[in-house]
Amino acid sequence: MGSYGFLAHIHPPRLDPERTRFTHTFCLGGLALVLFLVLGVTGVVLMFSYVPTAEGAARFFAAEAGDLPFAWYLRRLHFLAGQAMVVVLVLHMIRVIISGAYLPPRAANWLVGLGLMLLVLALDFSGYLLRWDQAMRSAAAVAANLIGQVPLVGGLLKRLLLGGEAVGEAGLLRMYVLHCLGLPVMTLVLTMYHFWRIRKDGRPLGGL
Ligand code: HEM
Repeated sequence: MGSYGFLAHIHPPRLDPERTRFTHTFCLGGLALVLFLVLGVTGVVLMFSYVPTAEGAARFFAAEAGDLPFAWYLRRLHFLAGQAMVVVLVLHMIRVIISGAYLPPRAANWLVGLGLMLLVLALDFSGYLLRWDQAMRSAAAVAANLIGQVPLVGGLLKRLLLGGEAVGEAGLLRMYVLHCLGLPVMTLVLTMYHFWRIRKDGRPLGGL
C-alpha cells in the first residue's frame, strides 16, 4: 500500500482510450472548459468598470462597458461565451445520454454534471440581472416571488437574495457578488471534482 495507495487515490485509474476519442466526446466537455476560462478572464476585466449600483450599471452600458481598451469587445465576448456555454453543455449532455455514460459507474458524475448545469444557468441569469434595466428589475421580481413560494425556506431565501423585502440596490449588490464570486467559485470547485471523477470512474487498466 503506502505511497502506491496514495498515488492511486489522487491519480485514479486511467481512461480507456475509446472514451477519449474525438468521435466519442466531440470535445464538448473540453469546449465547455475553454468557454469557462474565457468567461473568467473577460469577466475579471469587466469588473474594473462595472459598479453594482443602478447608476453604475446605467453608466457601464451607456459607455459601452467603460473606458478600458477593447472593453466593448470583451463585453460582447463575455456575453457570447455565456450563451455558447449553455448550448455546448446541452450538447455535452445529449452526447452523454446517447453514449449511455449517465449509467453506473458514471451515474454520480452525471449528477455532478446536473449540478454544474444548474450553476451555469444561475450564472447566466444573474449576469442578465446585472443590466439592471426595467426588464431585468421585473425579471428579478418574478424570480424572487417564485423563490418565495418554496415551502418552509422560500421567504428566508427571498429575503437573503434581495437583501430586503423588495427589489432594490441591495439585491443588485447580492447578484453581483454571486455572479462574480460565489457562483464561479462553486462552478470551479465542482468542475475539478467532475474531472477527478472522470478518471476515477474510468476502466482500470492493468490493475492500476
Ligand atoms: C462546467 C461544465 C462542464 C464541464 C467543463 C465538463 C467537462 C467534461 C469533460 C472535459 C469531460 C470528458 C470529455 C467529454 O466527455 O467531453 C466530461 C465528461 C462527462 N461529463 Fe461533463 N462537463 C460539464 C458539465 C456536464 C453536465 C451538465 C453533465 C450532465 C448533466 C456532464 C456529465 C458528464 C459525464 C457523465 C461525463 C463522463 C462521460 C464519459 O466518460 O463518457 N457534464 N465532462
